[in-house]
Amino acid sequence: MAQLQAALPQRLRRVSVWALYAVGLIPATWGFWLGATGRLPGNPVKEFEHLLGLWALRFLIATLAITPLRDLFGINALRYRRALGLLAFWYVLMHFTAYMVLDQYLNFAAILEDIARRPFITIGMAGLAMLIPLALTSNRWSIRKLGRRWGKLHRLVYVIAAAGALHYAMSVKVVGAQQWFYIACIALLLAWRPLRPLFMRRKRAGAGGQRVTPDQI
Ligand code: HEM
Repeated sequence: MAQLQAALPQRLRRVSVWALYAVGLIPATWGFWLGATGRLPGNPVKEFEHLLGLWALRFLIATLAITPLRDLFGINALRYRRALGLLAFWYVLMHFTAYMVLDQYLNFAAILEDIARRPFITIGMAGLAMLIPLALTSNRWSIRKLGRRWGKLHRLVYVIAAAGALHYAMSVKVVGAQQWFYIACIALLLAWRPLRPLFMRRKRAGAGGQRVTPDQI
């Protein structure tokens, strides 16, 4: 089966992670450039804010997809999970910054009122608040220091993804095909978690005594 990591020599693997960070930041840079040069259609502030929000959601989905991709198709892209998660965090942060600076002109009273009064903003804010500890602990030192608690803490990503989907659905007057598509992706990825132990047990049993390496579990 395709083993993304194994296919690449050691040095190229590290470079490929940095390449992912660089490529991942292209939509934000491109959107900013289009906005700054007056080439974003309609309301450019809203367009830019939406672009950042959508990419945040896409990176959250990509982060959640890593485990099922490995379980179901043997594609091991584990090396890229941290970068994808951090890209999701940076996009949410940029989305929030665009909202604070370009939309609300740093009027903190209005921002606080918005967070308290509009449920979809409250949910988005909760998503950002939960992403902060995950971003801060996404390094080897924290993984070592926190031990088993690290895994428990990082399960928050499921709540964050659900909050992101809900926030998106509530941000529009009518939930259309695009919203349903993202909601379905997140729902399927979240549904995989409780199903996974059963699937893995069957997979191991199906291997019929063949040795399953820890990497495949
Ligand atoms: C996990 C965190 C978050 C995710 C994944 C997220 C994602 C999104 C997405 C996908 C959209 C709709 C884009 C579109 O219609 O094309 C959106 C809209 C929006 N979000 Fe977020 N967001 C998050 C957090 C936040 C936070 C922290 C704030 C501000 C406090 C915020 C404020 C907004 C606003 C104001 C809109 C636009 C609503 C409008 O059209 O007027 N979001 N967000």
